[in-house]
Amino acid sequence: MAECRYCGGTGLVMKGDKAVRCACVRDKIKEAAYAQSGLTPLMRGFTFENFDFKYYSPDKFDKVKGVSYAQTAQITYKAAREFVDKFLQNRHTEGLLFTGPVGSGKTFLACAIANAVLEKGGQVLFVVVPDLLDKIRATYDIQHRELTEQSIIDAAREIPLLILDDLGVHNYTQWTINKLYSIINYRLNYQLPTVITTNLSVAELSEHLGERTASRLFQMCKFYRLLVDNNIRYLKRIESR
Ligand SMILES: Nc1ncnc2c1ncn2[C@@H]1O[C@H](COP(=O)(O)OP(=O)(O)OP(=O)(O)O)[C@@H](O)[C@H]1O
Ligand SMILES: [Mg+2]
Ligand SMILES: [Zn+2]
Repeated sequence: MAECRYCGGTGLVMKGDKAVRCACVRDKIKEAAYAQSGLTPLMRGFTFENFDFKYYSPDKFDKVKGVSYAQTAQITYKAAREFVDKFLQNRHTEGLLFTGPVGSGKTFLACAIANAVLEKGGQVLFVVVPDLLDKIRATYDIQHRELTEQSIIDAAREIPLLILDDLGVHNYTQWTINKLYSIINYRLNYQLPTVITTNLSVAELSEHLGERTASRLFQMCKFYRLLVDNNIRYLKRIESR
């Protein structure tokens, strides 16, 4: 990497007769946080600015709540933005859980939160739950001992903001339930926020994760729904043809 032309790589510049931190230091910290966040290059484009409301119909209604799909998206989007503001002011803020059908923008919005927090110099870990569990399982294999189970779990427990993507698409065994419980319970006890996306309904969450974990999620997260009549993934494929 080229040396900074302001500080020559020392990280310090003179301001009057005082040495102060060069701007490149902050940029480097930010870059490192991005690199460690688990966001893929594609996900870095999932930002609040790029969130398109056209996919959420004003003419279709959530039967239970009597609000349109468009309103549902606005409410959820607003909650996501407010979460970022609150989190940047206070690390111990309430988390969010996004439910909704396949291709409704849950992961997109969770990534928008991650990108906004990283942009402001915060730390985020984005994990796809099935991948996390596979990674933990791989540590039991003698061939893959470079990471320990504890180091993976500790990272998910201790990061200021954890995003658990796709909670609940796995075949949950007692083992899986215990791993997730240990992460979620830790974050609850230390009041660290978690943002979750899931296809499961509230009842299914309880059924698949067990009541102990599900009840903690209720305590830690505000629940929001995204509704679409068509999978956005599919609509975008058609658009791009
Ligand atoms: N509001 C949006 N504006 C623009 N593009 C969107 C929006 N929501 C989703 N997309 C696009 O649609 C794709 C699918 O969205 P996303 O991955 O967020 O769905 P999901 O609700 O997480 O689905 P799944 O339940 O399958 O995980 C994304 O990759 C993105 O390209
Ligand atoms: Mg998703
Ligand atoms: Zn510099």
